[in-house]
Amino acid sequence: MATEKTLIVVKPDGFKRCLTGKILSRFEDKGFKIKDLKLFNFTQQKAEQFYSAHKAKSFFNELVSFISSGTVVACILEGNNAINTVRIMIGSTNSFEAAAGTIRGDFGLGLTDNVIHASDSSESFIKESQVIFS
Ligand code: CMP
Repeated sequence: MATEKTLIVVKPDGFKRCLTGKILSRFEDKGFKIKDLKLFNFTQQKAEQFYSAHKAKSFFNELVSFISSGTVVACILEGNNAINTVRIMIGSTNSFEAAAGTIRGDFGLGLTDNVIHASDSSESFIKESQVIFS
């Protein structure tokens, strides 16, 4: 499997709870390299762009409101099979169903407030990282 890049975002709940260091350590321990890192607050407009794939969903407004409610940390990670491996490491979307040993399984109980986001495809990675880093 080729080296690829992916994006993770430690959400406002994860940042507020001081989990950023623990979360980034897991990826470094696994062998991923941090290629870029940014601490910031989403504006509503940037949040809507970031989550545009979910625009038609009933929870879109809740999602935009939550991600822009506090400081987040975005990180570009590089390594073998990064997109799929990182998705496995973060666990199921519903934190209360996520397996122990995954980030959401170990640190979260929420659905909207599920600690971390990760790109689900190379197309999402390109789009999401452009929204954040350009
Ligand atoms: P994330 O990985 O950031 O990608 C989209 C987000 O939508 C997801 O994490 C959840 O936080 C959120 N989400 C998914 N399904 C629902 C739902 N049914 N209600 C509220 N939020 C949801």
